[in-house]
This record gives sequence, structure tokens and C-alpha cells, in this order.
Amino acid sequence: LTTQELAEKYPVWFELQHVCRQSGARAGILHTPHGDIETPTFMPVGTQATVKCMAPEEIWNMGSRIILANTYHLWMRPGEDIVQAAGGLHKFMNWKGAILTDSGGFQVWSLSDLRHIKEEGVYFRSELDGSAQFLSPEKAITIENKLGADIIMAFDECAPYDADRAYIEDSMERTARWLERCVKAHQNPQKQALFGIIQGGMFADLRVQAAKEITAFDLPGYSIGGLSIGEPPALMNAMLDAVRPYLPENKPHYLMGVGTPDYILEGTLRGIDMFDCVLPTRIGRNGSALTWHGREIIRDAKNAAAFEPIEVDCNCYACKNYTRAYIRHLLKCREIFGLRLMSWHNLQFLQNFTAKLRAAIFADAALDFRTEFYNNSN
Ligand code: GUN
Ligand code: ZN
Repeated sequence: LTTQELAEKYPVWFELQHVCRQSGARAGILHTPHGDIETPTFMPVGTQATVKCMAPEEIWNMGSRIILANTYHLWMRPGEDIVQAAGGLHKFMNWKGAILTDSGGFQVWSLSDLRHIKEEGVYFRSELDGSAQFLSPEKAITIENKLGADIIMAFDECAPYDADRAYIEDSMERTARWLERCVKAHQNPQKQALFGIIQGGMFADLRVQAAKEITAFDLPGYSIGGLSIGEPPALMNAMLDAVRPYLPENKPHYLMGVGTPDYILEGTLRGIDMFDCVLPTRIGRNGSALTWHGREIIRDAKNAAAFEPIEVDCNCYACKNYTRAYIRHLLKCREIFGLRLMSWHNLQFLQNFTAKLRAAIFADAALDFRTEFYNNSN
């Protein structure tokens, strides 16, 4: 399909602008009903319809144009009907950019211990009040339709990375069958783009099989799930290499739950366009900063009298106005402003990181960017 045809067919469509001649990494624009997003892009996570500690304007002013929210959490609280009555997620939270909702498939696995998976869906207990709950492809999509994000994820199963081959095969086939049910349940494909999720564990041939099965569905985008869940980095890279030949060039490629600078870099070099992760905001609140020299523990005693910014050349609000010593003090006192400043820096860092990576792709120098990045970080 031409870009013109893609634009007419899907609410969200990808415009491939350049493929790095040195590495094969992609630069493009993701067009959505809530604006354009330059790729590669990192999506800040706003699990509960808020990027923790930050106002939407602050996220926007860092350059972020798409954020992620979670179906599971918003279903539990305040409930999708409340969000719909508010006029949808964008209005409810006052975010003018694009939004992607994850389906709840992953959260059911990571948050609840009592769960039973059946063909019809997943039975589990709420971690809030212990009540019995059920989530299925139809239910997840119905909730996502009511939340109203620009991109909605299919309901899948993310199997543990050490699951055996028989289990993975079973689970990945079920995820493909569930995708068919998601497509059927989706009420407004002209407004919200449904992305399919490729599973397959740590088996390259199963990843290939899943990629073929999932991309056989005519969808506006495809994602890769079940990675960065504790496996060695080399294994993740091998899985990305395995699926890449099967990902349509004219559609966006999203690697779920990946958001450290090194993984974003390795993913981008393997044809990924979109990333998300709670890590930058979570480690920020715990006192760690992402920098061009690697991770730095701002809480560390060595910063007690460090009257310099987290990073000297950083353009973020925290670095332009505050010292490590001050931020460390706030963190030690558990002051909320300390959490804000750390989140601010880490989110701005990733925004700057993907912008620089994008520039390197246009300059056909993404491998040089990687060499420089690893040389500088400790
Ligand atoms: N977030 C991180 N990994 C996954 C995954 O495999 N599936 C879903 N739905 N979300 C994720
Ligand atoms: Zn900064």
C-alpha cells in the first residue's frame, strides 16, 4: 500500500522516512488522530491515566507526543464507564497527544497470583480486594473501546521466559486465536487502531511462526511481546532478528515493555519504532538517573555536596535549575518535588536519546551512535 492508501485505510498509519544505510534502523512518522509522532519513540507510561508525578503539559513540553495507559488498572478504578462518560481518556486526563492502551493481558500475569487461563479468557483475583475477576479478548476490547485511546492492544498471554516449548506453543496459538476474537469485538476500527502482539517465548522458530500468524491479520500495527522479562539481552536480540523479516515495512513495529537506553538502541537497530517502559520513572523515584555516562545514583552519599546538575549539558527543568545535592536532599526527606525532578530528568533524557538516535538514522550513522554511546557509558 502507498502512504496515501494507508492514511485512508487506518486511523493510525506509519510513514517510513528513512532506513539507516549503516544499520537498517528506521526513522518515520506515526500519524494518529491526536497528532504525529516522530519515530523511534519512547512512550512514557501513565498506568493510572497519569504519568506519575508529572502534569500532562510537562510531558508534552519535553517533546513526548504519545503516552501509554493500562486497561487493567482503569477497568478496576475508576471503571471504563466513568472514563467514557468523561468523554474518553484524552479528555479525562487532559492529554492532547496520542494514547495507547495495553490490553490487560500482561498486567493479569504480573499483578495477580491466583489466575486460571482457559480458552475463553483468564480468571483471576483482583489485587485490590481479592474479588473474582474475568478478562477475555471481548471484554478487554470493549473496555479499550470505551477508554478511547488512539492505539489499542490485543488481549494476549505473555508467558514466563523459562516456560517450556510445549507451553509456549500452546500459549502463542491461543494468543493468535484471541487476536481473531479481538478483531471481531473491535467496534470502531476507523477511530482506534488495533495492534496485534507477537509472542513465541525464546524460541526463534516459534517467534517466526507467531510473526506469520499475527501479520496475516490486516492490522495497522504489530508489536512484539514477551521480551525483556528477565532473559539475557542476547536472547532478546536474537528474537528480534528472527521476527524482523516478517514485519511489514509499511507498518509500525512496537517492542512492549522495553525502555532502557541500551535496549531501545538495540531494538531500533533491529527495526523497532516504538517503545514503552515504567523503568525511567520508577528508577527516578528510587533515586537513579539515566545519563549519557550510564546510570547514576543521585541518592548516593557522594552527591551530598555536589553543587552541579544531574547532567551538565541536559536541557531538562531539573538540570537547568537544581543541583544533585538539593535533589538528593529532597529524596532523603521523601519530598514529592524530588520525585518530580528525577522523573523529569529521566523522561527528558529518553526523549533526547530517541531524538539523537533518529538524527543518527537520517545521517546513516546509527552504528556510530551505538559505538559512541557504549564508549561513554560506564
Ligand atoms: N508489556 C510488556 N510485555 C507485554 C506483553 O507481552 N503483552 C502485553 N499485552 N503487554 C506487555
Ligand atoms: Zn536533566
